[in-house]
Amino acid sequence: MVGESTVQKGLQDVVALESRITFIDGKQGRLIYRGYDIRDLAAQSTFEEVAYLLWYGRLPTAAQLTELRTTLGGLRTLPPEAAAIVDRMPKNANPMDVLRTAVSALAMFEPGETKTGPSSIGGAQRLTAALPTILGQFHRRRAGLPKLRARPELSHAAYLLYALLDTEPSPLDVNAIDVALILHADHELNASTFAARVTASTLSDLYSAVTSAIGTLKGPLHGGANERVMELLDEIKTPDRAESVVHARLAKHERIMGFGHRVYRVEDPRATILREWSRKIGEERKDIHYYDLLRAVELVVMKEKGLYPNVDLYSGSIYTLLGVPHDLFTPIFAASRVSGWTAHVLEEYDDLRLIRPTSAYVGPTDQRYVPIDERS
Ligand code: SDX
Repeated sequence: MVGESTVQKGLQDVVALESRITFIDGKQGRLIYRGYDIRDLAAQSTFEEVAYLLWYGRLPTAAQLTELRTTLGGLRTLPPEAAAIVDRMPKNANPMDVLRTAVSALAMFEPGETKTGPSSIGGAQRLTAALPTILGQFHRRRAGLPKLRARPELSHAAYLLYALLDTEPSPLDVNAIDVALILHADHELNASTFAARVTASTLSDLYSAVTSAIGTLKGPLHGGANERVMELLDEIKTPDRAESVVHARLAKHERIMGFGHRVYRVEDPRATILREWSRKIGEERKDIHYYDLLRAVELVVMKEKGLYPNVDLYSGSIYTLLGVPHDLFTPIFAASRVSGWTAHVLEEYDDLRLIRPTSAYVGPTDQRYVPIDERS
């Protein structure tokens, strides 16, 4: 038996592989994609530019960015067979289950090993382009909105909002969702990215790897936290109730969603940027009550647990103010992170090593087999 001391539960602090995609400095609270600080990318870039950076390892030229925009715009439509499967899903289905099932089904109807083949950058672009369509088609049907039209002229962020809300989003709203997509695009070896790499390390295909990742991101300890933050705010209602509600949850040893992180020991730099956007959109909508509530919660959690906010604390308030239903928050996270998942899958294919850790066996050994009629 391996001694207990060699077990790193949750693989905490275990360095599993080398990567050139993302660096997180947990002590300094820095997040870097391919060498670029996300504060610069969030302030000056677009999601398409960041997706290009993650896939190719360098920022695109203007011509390369235009080509990517055109490619993504042309890859948004689902094959009719896959679209029919989305239309068969129950209207009360969890949208993360819709995404997971649709991506899994999509693989069966893709045009073979063309440039959108299942294990190429073409496949990465295809999935990145298709996720907003899957979400928009599903949500429009359950909400009774008009049928989704392909809008290749829209940027990725604008198309996502149009697909979900059937609106022509304002430049401010598009900017807000574009920044959120940039900030969620990658995050080193988080649980869903690790799941994607484990799948890819067996030489399984890109669509299977993304299906694994979507199933993993759904968990409330990972991607599902942003939806639960809004449920907490609905319970708190006014800033003066923040302390009593948070105390009550902590007294039951419940986790306060949107706080804490396995890697960051200071504030998640994405929370810093999203806090500002929550205030900006709130002021523009003349409704900063979510922002005020979140600030009050931050003070209590810091005082009681010394925990900092993570990416999930403010994102839901922004999406809510933009008019996005709560159960689409984690799917939006997936619609961004698919760029990072696919970048990691391609990196795994380039430097393949089957990912297969071991476990410390602590069960019994040398058991004698007892015939069933002798067992009590
Ligand atoms: C994401 O990995 C990534 O990079 C993920 C992500 C990404 O971009 O991919 O950053 C996205 O998943 C952000 C996290 C979203 N999840 C939440 O906000 C859920 C609430 N957070 C916690 O569940 C927790 O902080 C985790 C899961 C995020 C991290 O947990 P760890 O590193 O396993 O820490 P832990 O569970 O060992 O907790 C250490 C202590 C414990 O106290 P004790 O039991 O030892 O007394 O801190 C406490 C925990 O109880 N704690 C919390 C808490 N987080 C940790 N207590 C209350 N509320 C919390 N949120």
